[in-house]
Amino acid sequence: MTVACTALTRTALVMGATGTTGSRTAAQLIAAGHRVKAASRRATLLPGTEPVRFDWYDPATFGAALSGADSVYLVPPIGDPDPAAVMLPFLRQARACGVERAVLLSSSAIPEGGPAVGAVHRAVPGLFDEWAVLRPSWFMQNFTGTHAHADSIRDHGVIRTAAGGGQVGFVDADDIAAVAVRALTDDRAPDSDLILTGPEALSHDDIAAIVTQVTGRPVTHDRLTHDDMRDRLAAMIPLEFATMLAEMDRAIAGGAEDRTTDTVLRVTGRPPNGFRVVAERELAPTQAQTVPETGPTR
Ligand SMILES: NC(=O)c1ccc[n+]([C@@H]2O[C@H](COP(=O)([O-])OP(=O)(O)OC[C@H]3O[C@@H](n4cnc5c(N)ncnc54)[C@H](OP(=O)(O)O)[C@@H]3O)[C@@H](O)[C@H]2O)c1
Repeated sequence: MTVACTALTRTALVMGATGTTGSRTAAQLIAAGHRVKAASRRATLLPGTEPVRFDWYDPATFGAALSGADSVYLVPPIGDPDPAAVMLPFLRQARACGVERAVLLSSSAIPEGGPAVGAVHRAVPGLFDEWAVLRPSWFMQNFTGTHAHADSIRDHGVIRTAAGGGQVGFVDADDIAAVAVRALTDDRAPDSDLILTGPEALSHDDIAAIVTQVTGRPVTHDRLTHDDMRDRLAAMIPLEFATMLAEMDRAIAGGAEDRTTDTVLRVTGRPPNGFRVVAERELAPTQAQTVPETGPTR
């Protein structure tokens, strides 16, 4: 079979380019002068990038996405309990097309060989000479963006978890993207997995208090049981995924995410952003919202 995907220039293919980390990675690559193919199901036009339609569940979209790419930022298919089933055939095609470097987005909670993306993590070093697996802690943008926590804050002034008082090294997606850019473009790839955190471990009570201070609107943390959390989630997403997310909260309650690493500083040369900085950047009321309208002067 001939594969039409000859690499002519140095170009990064960014998956999930409309999402939280992919959009930031694409923007930071463009700002640093790199060429970017921005992949998503909608082939959305992002400034400076070449949009390309890509669907993990439609192998017919793989060739055009890979054409001309020599590195790839991989965001797994969201909520798929077995992402390896679609990702490994894509990665083998990418290798055959001459893609030299793969940077996979995984999670601090999932080790090599673990569930879901853990199987892809295990395969990546055998497929690519140059690679990295990013294992970020929970994203700060869960409380500021389009995540269910952010919606619940906006709509009800509450964060509901089964994480209890457990602390998490929440990380800014801008910092994840900054590490992704270095992993994709440095002369030497990391060839390792990288656990990414912010500068401090915070509980969800701490997050609620900071959001309250920054927005001026009261936000509380509602501590659910594991089963209540699972059942709430299962009303919105498949039970298997809901159970996995509730288990992750239980692990947080047990202290599994109570850690910080120096990876962002070591890789990018600057310290990671704290949650207050991110909340002020993304949640603080704008002047238009705070200055009362004076109305017509006549
Ligand atoms: N949130 C957290 O706290 C956290 C922490 C650690 C790790 N993670 C991991 O981060 C990943 C999510 O990354 P993210 O937050 O950057 O993404 P995201 O904001 O959830 O966006 C998902 C992206 O994937 C694209 N997409 C969805 N379905 C697709 C499909 N079938 N084929 C191709 N593209 C598809 C979407 O674009 P279109 O809709 O335009 O196709 C979008 O760009 C998950 O694997 C999660 O486990 C999250």
